[in-house]
Amino acid sequence: MCEACKEKFFITTPMYYPSSRLHIGHAYCTVATDVMARYKRMRGADVMFLTGTDEHGQKIENKAKEAGMTPKQFVDSIVEAPKGVKDLWRLMNISYDRFVRTTDEPHVETVQKVFKAMYDKGDIYKGSYEGLYCTPCESFWTESQLVDGKCPDCGREVQPAKEEAYFFRLSKYADRIQALLETPGWLEPASRVNEMINNFIKPGLEDLCVSRTSFSWGIPVDFDPGHVVYVWVDALFSYASALGYLNSAYSDFQSCWPADYHIIGKEIVRFHTIIWPAFLMSMELPLPKHVFGHGWLNFNGDKMSKSKGNVVDPYLLAERYGVDALRFFMLRTFPFGSDGNFTNESLISCINVDLANDLGNLVSRTVAMVGKYFGGQLPLEQQEDEAKDDELITMACDLVHVYEEQMEKFAFQNALGEIFKLIGRANKYIDENEPWKLAKDEANKPRLARVLYNLLETVRICGGLLRPFMPVTAEEIMKRIGAQESDWESLGFFGTLYRDAKVENGPALFPRIDAAKELEELEALQAAQAAAAEPAPAEEEAPLPEPLPEIAFDEFQKVEMTVVKVLACENVKKSEKLLKFQLDDGSGTPRQILSGIAKFYKPEELIGKTLVAVTNLAPRKMMGQLSCGMLLSAERGDKLHLLMLDDAVPAGSRLC
Ligand code: MSP
Repeated sequence: MCEACKEKFFITTPMYYPSSRLHIGHAYCTVATDVMARYKRMRGADVMFLTGTDEHGQKIENKAKEAGMTPKQFVDSIVEAPKGVKDLWRLMNISYDRFVRTTDEPHVETVQKVFKAMYDKGDIYKGSYEGLYCTPCESFWTESQLVDGKCPDCGREVQPAKEEAYFFRLSKYADRIQALLETPGWLEPASRVNEMINNFIKPGLEDLCVSRTSFSWGIPVDFDPGHVVYVWVDALFSYASALGYLNSAYSDFQSCWPADYHIIGKEIVRFHTIIWPAFLMSMELPLPKHVFGHGWLNFNGDKMSKSKGNVVDPYLLAERYGVDALRFFMLRTFPFGSDGNFTNESLISCINVDLANDLGNLVSRTVAMVGKYFGGQLPLEQQEDEAKDDELITMACDLVHVYEEQMEKFAFQNALGEIFKLIGRANKYIDENEPWKLAKDEANKPRLARVLYNLLETVRICGGLLRPFMPVTAEEIMKRIGAQESDWESLGFFGTLYRDAKVENGPALFPRIDAAKELEELEALQAAQAAAAEPAPAEEEAPLPEPLPEIAFDEFQKVEMTVVKVLACENVKKSEKLLKFQLDDGSGTPRQILSGIAKFYKPEELIGKTLVAVTNLAPRKMMGQLSCGMLLSAERGDKLHLLMLDDAVPAGSRLC
């Protein structure tokens, strides 16, 4: 296809904060975007895949101070250094076309011009801001936007803050934004549309504070020294500055804008589907064609966070299992639009089942048989297909269509599922045709050659369609089966491999892992990493709760508080919060209580402990199970601590 006729496809990841090392959760988004970019290139599109870093703001300024560096030195140490952002993308084989840093001169120029243009237009005006500020998110919130009094994005404490500031007339664009959000397919998955409309549009859009004076690490407002541009104005416009919008570093804006897809995590959907379109409307620029808000990768059921010491290190995993296995695992295991729970067990099992057993075996058995029965090259004289080959061949011919349908929807998990259905069918085809029996009789050689050819073709099609996910493995597969080419067109045809394909043996693509042993080793390594990690910054102490009104002594006496011992404890299925206890309350009959403390304790830690329960509360059902009472715990901020007593206190004792 001639270069000029190619369809343009502009796709972006978010601009990552280089405030600390990136983890596997960050890589999830970038790998998914990379898979889409590679898929589109394979389809012949002229892809512009943009990624980068969002380097300004108070958080970075603070971190740099703690590290004894200037902010620029600090961000350089995370963006450019070994194991930094760029190095991680190299490791993960990310094929980005452009990397923008918001500290790049051309970007600074763009942002200053945009700010001035919006100011001149009257969309930005000067006022003063009094509100609740979340430092980690660098966001001001109103009381009504808080969730349980905390930042609705990250759940942390917010502080009252006041400063002279510039504001953007977000409210002016509310109707157009609502219409945009309601455009089918614009924001995916569709479930996120209601979230935006109900949480932000319906309560009424307030004007947005777009400058700061309380710190200086930002792009200066050039016509008002002392003000720096709000990081989200700064970061969002990197999608355009990186193409050369209002700067002369590049000249791709005309041909690439608007973005076909912004791929982002769910917590920054608001910025991309409300604030970003409003800025673009103000600048009278075309709007992105689609935004996809993917889910989060948690680790062992918990949000990955440095302070919890549970961030998964991509370097460790890539070194042990290979980058392709890691890329594959993330997209094969979790539906892209929803949250996923990363566990070491699921990673190892995915490698063993899909990659070692199904794919690896198919390739190695097929290649080995061509080697063993034909010296590594199939003969030209082959029998024609038999009726019993039809099912495999039809599935192989259809695969590209079902795959395409899923890929176009970003349903990576389903696209891979389709490939693995065919791999499974091909493994069955080997068992049905028993090549080892055919090989015993010279007269059967043409049939044997045909069976092996069909297998090689199936491997070629599967390998070709796996290429966006596992680029290195796909290349290796093509080499092993002697495929000359496997472009998009050829993946829809069965029979494009030369009849006399010459195969090449090699070591197992994915050696089987001894799961139990590996799990133990991996967990030990991860624990050592967590222990060696820099100490987490001390968390701010949560404020004291409001005092409650006075009560009379007899009111207090109505509450029956009993010492109980934990006989059994388990997680409640489908609940992230609840633990179910069987308790000895001294009565001789175990008492069942459900308690919302699963985030803070593992069931096995609590067995045998001596706790206190309110035992005269009316029973109630939670997640379909009866809870007869309530365990007492102390609450401070968002943490709960069960009240534990000396084990010498007998069960059934009453607190008074
Ligand atoms: N700087 C902003 C983006 C500005 S875009 C104009 C930002 N940066 S971030 O580094 O905090 O996050 C970058 C991306 O990583 C986000 O899309 C976020 O959702 C994603 N992830 C961070 N942790 C994640 C997981 N554990 N799982 C999946 N993605 C997560 O936000």
